[in-house]
Amino acid sequence: MSETNMVPVGIVCSPFKERGDAPRQGRLSDELSKITIFPEYLDALLGLSEGADIFILCWFDRSDRSVLQSHLGGDETRPIRGVFASRSPNRPNPISLTLARLVKIEGNKLTVKGLEALDRTPVLDIKPYSEQFDTPIKE
Ligand SMILES: C[S@@+](CC[C@H](N)C(=O)[O-])C[C@H]1O[C@@H](n2cnc3c(N)ncnc32)[C@H](O)[C@@H]1O
Repeated sequence: MSETNMVPVGIVCSPFKERGDAPRQGRLSDELSKITIFPEYLDALLGLSEGADIFILCWFDRSDRSVLQSHLGGDETRPIRGVFASRSPNRPNPISLTLARLVKIEGNKLTVKGLEALDRTPVLDIKPYSEQFDTPIKE
């Protein structure tokens, strides 16, 4: 199998210091976070504007990568699901996906709303939300 190689393009500065501090999904909180984009990726921000809806993909560095199944929401009264059928942060490749609002751009610092990543979480990628393509496929 070919090697999969990723490098972080930035890092999160967040009010959520520990897992218990963070909401299950970022939109359940009004807190703002900052993403510092590393200088070598600054050119990749061209075309992003304040107010945009963006997907943020992070590497959840404090996850347990051995987990394949877990109770939904970590609640033992709820059914067990495979991690590919859940949003559990614990999974073989702990890549998180969050639709957030880009509130402010100041050079290489992005202020975002709706991100539940812990402080110092590595950022893998940012992509714009598309009203045309990011909806369920109709039969
Ligand atoms: C349920 S996951 C959802 C993540 C993303 N919105 C998704 O659906 O892929 C969010 C939880 O992951 C945990 N988390 C956040 N940052 C993390 C990190 N760097 N390492 C491990 N867990 C993290 C927090 O407990 C947070 O409540």
